Parts: sequence; C-alpha cells; structure tokens
Amino acid sequence: MPDPAQIVFTACGLTKTYRMGEVEAPALRGVALDIYQGELVVLLGPSGSGKSTLLNILGGLDSPSSGSAQWRDHDLARADEKALTRYCREHVGFVFQFCNLISSLTVREHVALLCDEPTGALGYETGKPVLEGIAHQSGAGHDGGGNCA
Ligand SMILES: Nc1ncnc2c1ncn2[C@@H]1O[C@H](COP(=O)(O)OP(=O)(O)OP(=O)(O)O)[C@@H](O)[C@H]1O
Ligand SMILES: [Mg+2]
Repeated sequence: MPDPAQIVFTACGLTKTYRMGEVEAPALRGVALDIYQGELVVLLGPSGSGKSTLLNILGGLDSPSSGSAQWRDHDLARADEKALTRYCREHVGFVFQFCNLISSLTVREHVALLCDEPTGALGYETGKPVLEGIAHQSGAGHDGGGNCA
C-alpha cells in the first residue's frame, strides 16, 4: 500500500471545457489521480481523450474549469498566472509533442536537456531516474522520431 505522505500530485473532480463561441467541448470530465514521489507514470489514451489537456494543467500551462489539482502544497487550480509561471519555470520540464523538438536528438536527449543544471527545470537528481527509465525502455537507442508527449 503506497504511503499517502509520498503523494506529490493529487487531482480530484478535474474538468476542462473549451468554449468556442456557443460550442462547448468537454476535454476532461472528472479526473482523479494521485502520483507518488519517484513514480514513472504513462498516460495512454486515444487522440482527443484529454492527455495534453491534463498535462497542461499539471504542468501549470493551463487551468481547469473546475475541480482540484495540487502539486505538493501548491494549489494549481486556483493559482494565478504569475504563480503558475513561477511553478512551471522552477519545477516543470516539458518535451512537447510537436513543437520545440530538435530533430537530431532522441527522446532521451531531449529529456537530458531538461536535466542540465542550472538551466534545466528538472535538475540532475530529479531527472536521473527518468533518464534511466527511458534508457531501460528503449535500449538507449534512437526513437525514430516518435511522439514525445
Ligand atoms: N485549445 C483548444 N480549444 C478547443 N478545444 C480543444 C483545445 N485543446 C484541446 N481541445 C479539445 O479537447 C479534447 C482533448 O484534446 P487533447 O489535445 O487534450 O487530447 P490528446 O489526448 O492530447 O490528443 P492527442 O493524442 O491527439 O495529442 C479534444 O476534443 C480537442 O479537440
Ligand atoms: Mg496530446
């Protein structure tokens, strides 16, 4: 049984609805999750199921329509833009799906860039297990340009 004290992300009843004029597009409908310290999480789902929407909220790039989302003692659902920008800058490393990718680098090398101190958001110690996990999964080879996010 995981130790609740080790939870770093927690979300409950998380919703996100995009509005385009009169049209509403629900992207998340009541997501609940706990993520533990050191846990490697893979988010799987068909295109349009809300993976990027959820990652954007957990990464401080967007805010939910309702529900709670917390990273340690940071309330991500109610943080203003300035607080989210600071959180994102100091604690989050994103490898985007389509943009800001360097074609000659592998997935592992993109993540390694985030672990370069002092500019990388993850820091070497935080990023190390992620890099080891990727090396283990891929045999440290090139990824052939597959999706990163
Ligand atoms: N900025 C936006 N404005 C309006 N609708 C959006 C916006 N971003 C996402 N959506 C819609 O929200 C839903 C979830 O999209 P999202 O991009 O989170 O899915 P995804 O699981 O990441 O898909 P993919 O695997 O293609 O990356 C989709 O129906 C999408 O059309
Ligand atoms: Mg996506």
